Amino acid sequence: MATLEVHIEEPVTFVIFGATGDLTRRKLVPALYTLFKEGALASDFTIIGFARRDYEGTKFCNLIAESLHEHSRTPVDEDSLQAFCSHLTYHRGDLSDAAAYAELKKKLADSALPANRLFYLSIMPHLIEPVMDQLKTAELITPPGTGPWTRVVVEKPFGRDMKSAQALNETLLKYLDETQIYRIDHYLGKETVQNILSFRFANTIFEPVFNRTYVDHIQITASETVGMESGRGAYYDEYGALRDMVANHLFQLVALAAMEAPEGLSARSIRNEKVKLLQALKLAPSTPEHPSVCFGQYSGNTDTKAFRDEDRVDPSSTTETFAALRMEISNWRWADVPVYLRTGKRMAKKSTEIVIQFKTPPLSLFQHVACKGDVCDLTGVKPNTLIFRIQPDEGIFLQVSAKRPSMQLVVESVNMDFSYSGRWEKALPEAYERLLLDAMRGDSTLFTRSDEVEAEWNVIDTVLAAAADTKPLPYTPGAWGPAEANALLLNGAQWRNE
Ligand code: BG6
Repeated sequence: MATLEVHIEEPVTFVIFGATGDLTRRKLVPALYTLFKEGALASDFTIIGFARRDYEGTKFCNLIAESLHEHSRTPVDEDSLQAFCSHLTYHRGDLSDAAAYAELKKKLADSALPANRLFYLSIMPHLIEPVMDQLKTAELITPPGTGPWTRVVVEKPFGRDMKSAQALNETLLKYLDETQIYRIDHYLGKETVQNILSFRFANTIFEPVFNRTYVDHIQITASETVGMESGRGAYYDEYGALRDMVANHLFQLVALAAMEAPEGLSARSIRNEKVKLLQALKLAPSTPEHPSVCFGQYSGNTDTKAFRDEDRVDPSSTTETFAALRMEISNWRWADVPVYLRTGKRMAKKSTEIVIQFKTPPLSLFQHVACKGDVCDLTGVKPNTLIFRIQPDEGIFLQVSAKRPSMQLVVESVNMDFSYSGRWEKALPEAYERLLLDAMRGDSTLFTRSDEVEAEWNVIDTVLAAAADTKPLPYTPGAWGPAEANALLLNGAQWRNE
């Protein structure tokens, strides 16, 4: 019995290229297992793991079991593990070897295997073209709209600048139609991220104030406490915080928080609105007192290695592990409203949130109580703040002022909050569960379209040019990045370091 609201009737053969890699083990396999266990997958789905190492026979199932024990959010029991393994096969081969694709073709021709194919490219970016080429030569890609379908899921990075992003799009479009390409930005699969549009457009009370008349600024933070775990040093040293997080996850959050209402909920309508917003997103001009870019790199301390000392990182690396930007959106709704973004590794806290900070009331009638511990001060009235907590403590909070019970007329900031855990008992689904399900059922709403990717890189190119001569500033592990990031903020605004 399906315990998820969604069940895929259509059988699918899911081929994972890079089946023994880190992403497969940490994210894909646990997500597929949960979908399987919750009855969301068609009864005759098949997973083929394609990789070079020797995991034939029962070894592949053992590897999967190990990954599940370590990473699955769904309890793993022996019966369902064995049942799950009966849907798995391993295909050993070199990704650049034509013979391996000829063999794969033979396997896929088995009439017992579902004819719909989802190729998941969990591989290094430089391997995408050779793999697509081999798939094409082996005639494993069916054109869209003709019987059984072929879809290809691509993982980021979708380039490292505009030029390479365009080249990647051209490569993919040489072999596939845009409707067959599913570019994963896993932030879009997060339940709280999907809720941004529902919250904005399923209510009437917020939209009228979501504009330059009422909003003072928007700030988005995605801070992490981790460093270079899982051997990520080499990849990260090449990409850095700007390309790894800002170019995709943070820009997608800005797009959802600030876009216009779509005409409907189709993938096309939503992505059209996101593209328009991303095309209006610009790096704000820098001034000597208020730069618009701040890059940082974590140094070390007694407990934590400096970035430069991490495994597979260049000891003289100038890659940023922290990036903060002041942006603006040049459209009618948002002109002159600063949009602050920041992200980094080894920061004070793992936290992702979108803060919409409203303007203060036009007249200050009340005094405000601000307390730190037992000490309370009277200050000016605090502005309202709407906070989308993407993770952890998922929820939405509105900070408002209310009269403090006392003989004086002073107000205090209080939270009106909606938290997922307080409202629903069920744990939130993992982003990959939702995204894999959507790719299998052909819903591309939560995947990034080629023009969105190019709009994102277009902005990043201007940031890269603006920061070309700057070296990242050091910050200690556990800090909120370099103190210099405060200078980005205008008109007394402050980062919400909570
Ligand atoms: C990935 C980045 O896309 O997102 C990682 O490559 C980062 O560097 C991760 O750690 C963060 O994802 P989440 O879901 O933990 O916020």
